[in-house]
Amino acid sequence: TTAFLRTCCVQNIHSVKIGAFWTSVTKLGLHTKPRMPPCDFTPEKYQSLTYERVLEIHKQHLSPILTAYFPKPLLLHQGHKEWLFDYEGNRYLDFFSGIVTVSVGHCHPKVNAVAQKQLGRLWHTSTLFFHPPIHEFAEKLSALLPEPLKVIFLVNSGSEANDLAMLMARAHSKSTDIISFRGGYHGGSSSTLGLTNVGPFKTELSSGLGCQSTMCPDVFRGPWGGSHCRDSPVQTIRKCSCAPDCCQAKDQYIEQFKDTLNSSVAKSIAGFFAEPIQGVNGVVQYPKGFLKEAFELVRERGGLCIADEVQTGFGRLGSHFWGFQTHGILPDIVTMAKGIGNGFPMAAVVTTPEIANSLAKSVLHFNTFGGNPIACAIGSAVLEVIKEENLQENSQEVGTYMLQKFAELRDEFEIVGDVRGKGLMIGIEMVKDKMSRQPLPREEVNEIHDNCKRMGLLIGKGGIFAQTFRIAPSMCITKPDVKFAVEVFRSALIQHRDRRAK
Ligand SMILES: Cc1ncc(COP(=O)(O)O)c(C=O)c1O
Repeated sequence: TTAFLRTCCVQNIHSVKIGAFWTSVTKLGLHTKPRMPPCDFTPEKYQSLTYERVLEIHKQHLSPILTAYFPKPLLLHQGHKEWLFDYEGNRYLDFFSGIVTVSVGHCHPKVNAVAQKQLGRLWHTSTLFFHPPIHEFAEKLSALLPEPLKVIFLVNSGSEANDLAMLMARAHSKSTDIISFRGGYHGGSSSTLGLTNVGPFKTELSSGLGCQSTMCPDVFRGPWGGSHCRDSPVQTIRKCSCAPDCCQAKDQYIEQFKDTLNSSVAKSIAGFFAEPIQGVNGVVQYPKGFLKEAFELVRERGGLCIADEVQTGFGRLGSHFWGFQTHGILPDIVTMAKGIGNGFPMAAVVTTPEIANSLAKSVLHFNTFGGNPIACAIGSAVLEVIKEENLQENSQEVGTYMLQKFAELRDEFEIVGDVRGKGLMIGIEMVKDKMSRQPLPREEVNEIHDNCKRMGLLIGKGGIFAQTFRIAPSMCITKPDVKFAVEVFRSALIQHRDRRAK
């Protein structure tokens, strides 16, 4: 038996501490490494820089800011659908899709073919001339948005899109002050840093003249929350006595919002930015009805309402194509990036003709690369693939299934405090215990994260204390992929429990 177990150990959990493995075996029966669903794709042979050389170059010539995941950063080589391959040919299930960006799958054949065709035809013109890809894309994208959101400005990144939306809101309202949620991430440029209210992104000097933060209505971690607050198949573990059609948590958070409007901004404001679900802050969902009331309050003060759909757009939430639709609201401006190009750098701001004209009257807005022919051809192909492959429906079905599976782990493990989200945007918040809701220490979260990677699963992290795992794969994933991911995560939690029990 000992020899057999030792063989299992080497073959199945080769990278986990031996001691921890033996504990798993004795406590939980034979605990084997989850088996990955098959993949018929063979990556090319890696023939580039050695791993050591990559580390050296990175240290000498690239940003010193530590962003790479894992103690031994992953050197990737190739991607195919929901799969990534590293330089040694190891395969990973990519459940974070390049930070919620590879919407239809790595190197999608249709998107690749369209890009290659456009590459051989015309790379660049500038906004001084016309070319069909931009018009084709504008028509396709605007058809997906409700009236009167029909005018499109093309830029290159989410930060640029939000920069432009700030400019628009101020030009149209002739006011300065803009409100955004604490925990919200809207970009890293000098002006959007004023909207971004996430501690590590704040600089020594104050940023964002005229930007004011307000309380995030977080029904799990915030002061108020209950058992039917959010639009998700999984509710929090908090209890409440609200009737089905009312939400006291929402009312309390609205009072906080009013407080900000009454005490911290000018009487007339330029606007309010909100992600329909917060991404970087760990997939935080607001109580149902909150955004609707908040939008009314903002409009009473002359402000515009801006939905930042950089993470939530393009069908990811399953039930709707855009996150704002899940709240039953109609924004004045919608910003989008990431999934729009399946990883190709492009972004857009969509607004009404009236607001677009206000901008045009007050400033000459110019962007060299915005609306680039290759980007627009790719954008059109991505929209076609989402439709042809029913990826929004897949997000709904597979995402709901995944949420239910992860909710079972929340009930099984004390350190899984909350499971939330919609479609394929899922957060798993880790706590010391369910009673205190104190965040699980960062080192423990990192261990679990690294362990998942060793078993072949890549997931993201987020939240103020980096306590929340984020799951946002390409929308082409399958239920067998989810089964594998849940088994890996469960295995990592068991290993964590065993380590702490020693
Ligand atoms: C909601 C949201 N808005 C804006 C941005 C900024 O986008 P980019 O990194 O393309 O500038 C991000 C990036 O993570 C985001 O998540």
